[in-house]
Amino acid sequence: MPDQAVNPPNESSALSTGLALTIETGVNLKPYNSFGLPATAHRLVRIRSAADLRRVVDHPQLGRAPKFVLGGGSNIVLTKDVDAVVLKMEIPGIRLLEDRADAWIIEAGAGVPWHQLVQWSIEQGFPGLENLALIPGTVGAAPVQNIGAYGLEIKDRLDSVAVLDLVTGRNVVLPASVCKFGYRDSVFKQTGFGGLAGKSVITHVRLRCPKPWQPVLGYLEIERKMAESGVAAPSARQIFDWVCEIRRAKLPDPAVIGNAGSFFKNPLVSIDQCRDIIGRDPHIVHYPMPDGSIKLAAGWMIDACGWKGKAVGGAAVYERQALVLVNRGEARGAEVVTLARAIQESVYGRFGIRLETEPILL
Ligand code: EPU
Repeated sequence: MPDQAVNPPNESSALSTGLALTIETGVNLKPYNSFGLPATAHRLVRIRSAADLRRVVDHPQLGRAPKFVLGGGSNIVLTKDVDAVVLKMEIPGIRLLEDRADAWIIEAGAGVPWHQLVQWSIEQGFPGLENLALIPGTVGAAPVQNIGAYGLEIKDRLDSVAVLDLVTGRNVVLPASVCKFGYRDSVFKQTGFGGLAGKSVITHVRLRCPKPWQPVLGYLEIERKMAESGVAAPSARQIFDWVCEIRRAKLPDPAVIGNAGSFFKNPLVSIDQCRDIIGRDPHIVHYPMPDGSIKLAAGWMIDACGWKGKAVGGAAVYERQALVLVNRGEARGAEVVTLARAIQESVYGRFGIRLETEPILL
């Protein structure tokens, strides 16, 4: 059966194929990336189930075409139109999969907004994810960059992920132990030998919230909240509320000001390198890591170089947190990249450190 045009939505058009897939063409991606950058997807398919993905793999034209998986669009900088077939992940559903003696196992579809899952888990009485409240993006994107905040990373709560192999079309469940998690890194982001970037798509995520629940405290800002409130043994709900307050106070809400969260990773350096930098800048914020390396606060370095509030066109450095770049209005991807490069050069010039970007530049 030939492809047929059906109900073109606004400026884009949709093609329904014999394999019951709808391929939208000429789709404006501005509403689908949290930076609010303009770009067009030549072809976009909404994925609402693992079976939809399977149909893409089996499709005569789409099967072999390069693909780009789009979650909440909160970790990408679009600098041009997208030629690859955009797979917009919209798989719904949250459920308690198992109530074990030692843990609650929660399963969520890749398209569920991450914060919705955290909120649901707190409301249902399955604590353990509260430190990761208000992180933008979808459940399916969360393991890809091993999201983390306030002393917890998703790797600490991940049981397994269900993926569809784009080459074989098979569904596979991967335990957390094979996901090669690192700081904002995982096998799903890696492109080299053994990496799964571009080879598989996460359809569902299973999280393990251990029993009995134990709070993750110790992060400076949470300790400050404990001291201010006099609450020495906070509940999960209390930590959830504090994390929301802390984030709202210093991170821009992407629904109001376009952004992609932290724009750079906090660099890891050796003790010798750190000593050298501290010699020159005694106030630099740094944290010792379990492996003996030192993590430097990139936000502090960018701030020290005087970048807060500076702009290139519509792209600017957020006034309250220098690690976050924002869209002041009609920013274009190229402006964001120009600003980012200028920041990288100035930090390198002063500290001799090359900052790596956290979002993917497309
Ligand atoms: N700082 C400054 N000036 C700034 C920004 C930060 O002096 O403009 C200082 C702060 O005062 C603090 C230190 O730098 O002493 C670190 O700042 P902060 O606690 O805000 O955390 P961060 O290292 O900038 C990281 C994560 C965030 C996460 C927070 C809390 C990365 C790249 N970022 O930010 O994650 O929410 O810790 O755990 O690791 C994200 O990845 O998108 C993200 C928001």
